Amino acid sequence: MQNRKPIDKNTVNTRYKPAYHPSVGAGWANDPNGMIWFGGQAHLFYQHYPYDTKWGPMHWGHLVSRDLIRWEELPVALKPDRWYDDQLGCFSGTAIEKDGVLHLMYTGAREDRQQQCLARSADGIRYEKSENNPVIASRDLPEDVSVRDARDPKVFRRGDWFYCMIGTMRQNRGDILLYRSADLEKWQYVGGLMEVDERPDHGPVAGVFECPDYQRVDGQEILITSPQNMPFDGIRFQNDQCSLWTAGTLDLSTGRFSYERFRELDWGFDFYAPQTMVLPDGRTILIGWKEMWNRDFPTAEDGWAGSFTLPRELSFREGHLFQNPVREIEQYRIHPVTVENLAIPESGLTIDGVCGNCLELVLTLKIGSADRAGMKVCKGPGQETLLYYDRTRGGLVFDRSRSGIPVGGREANTQVRFCPLEVEDTLKLRIFLDVSCVEVFLEGGREVMTGNIYPDPGAVGIEFFGNGVEILELRKFDICVE
Ligand code: FRU
Repeated sequence: MQNRKPIDKNTVNTRYKPAYHPSVGAGWANDPNGMIWFGGQAHLFYQHYPYDTKWGPMHWGHLVSRDLIRWEELPVALKPDRWYDDQLGCFSGTAIEKDGVLHLMYTGAREDRQQQCLARSADGIRYEKSENNPVIASRDLPEDVSVRDARDPKVFRRGDWFYCMIGTMRQNRGDILLYRSADLEKWQYVGGLMEVDERPDHGPVAGVFECPDYQRVDGQEILITSPQNMPFDGIRFQNDQCSLWTAGTLDLSTGRFSYERFRELDWGFDFYAPQTMVLPDGRTILIGWKEMWNRDFPTAEDGWAGSFTLPRELSFREGHLFQNPVREIEQYRIHPVTVENLAIPESGLTIDGVCGNCLELVLTLKIGSADRAGMKVCKGPGQETLLYYDRTRGGLVFDRSRSGIPVGGREANTQVRFCPLEVEDTLKLRIFLDVSCVEVFLEGGREVMTGNIYPDPGAVGIEFFGNGVEILELRKFDICVE
């Protein structure tokens, strides 16, 4: 099937390559897969097509890191080469350790069916597929489940048992199936997680709950999933596909997950298919694909397409899931600039030393009675990216309509995103700019907005605006990973 050579990393044009967000070296990348701490380092596998900058039969790319910021590329871990995975490839899945051996559970995808498969590795680098594959075959699915849509196994351990969640569709509605096994090879069906009901935000219609993930965060069980076809309701689910979290309780004997409602993980443009891992010190880390399906990929002509969010530390309090950038990023801060109690004049405000496109801003604004308060980043001739609180709409606006190369997509609006936010008098933002992306953590990580932008290389200006608004505190750091 593959006579061509993989795209050579040395031929890649790096003009839009993020400096401290993980990204594919060359070729195509989508979902993060099988994140695990194994052998003294974090492994981040990902959906990969090495031969082109668009989706093709899936491989598992492989990155490793000791601090979750500097990543090193290892050889491709899985490639499509068996009857059960050689058509569409090795789809998303999980990594889990058993008896000191690293196991990958993934979906072997064919045109007519999707089945769950296992591969193992003693050194974490070279993988051997199990002779028992597929270990969860189409015949092991309940009758009303679509055999073409059963994918993205999430494996976890409870006591002596391994459990596996599989994203699927049954009776035209999204569902997640639960299986269990004593040895990762022989699996038994337990039940379906979701109660198929008519709540509009219950889940996808004619779509799959893709990439389920399940974790306990600060004592609370959290289910994460990325449904296709969530109907846009005017505020939520603005992207073609979205990623949701919910707190609830999984009944391991029936497979049923009781929960109240789903909430979005990220309100920006580019975020999908996140997965979590637990670090040896107990922190739960989430990484998402920092792109969106059915969009233009302006970097495709540069020889690469596909990047990931900063690893985010999850915490659960006040009934809410918080996400904050992994604290290791702070080790890469240089050139600090601090400003306090500075009023923004009507004409706008620039500050000496506060510019660039590879940096972090920690900002507290006193909004007063202003209608709009915020900033323009990546500003250059005719270009700017807006991030501002809009009082009339009651939330934060991320506007990339004048950011540079426009990004089209299947949605009616691919230029402006909005995150509803209750703001009393002050607004707290933590913003990361990384060449071609903006990641904004709002109100201590209560909400996040992530998006890619493609400005001219010289567009590095930053300007604050908001009539009567005061910068209570601003800290700026360049981020340097060299
Ligand atoms: C989600 C997804 C998964 C699938 C993978 C294929 O983005 O569609 O459901 O396993 O991508 O690359």
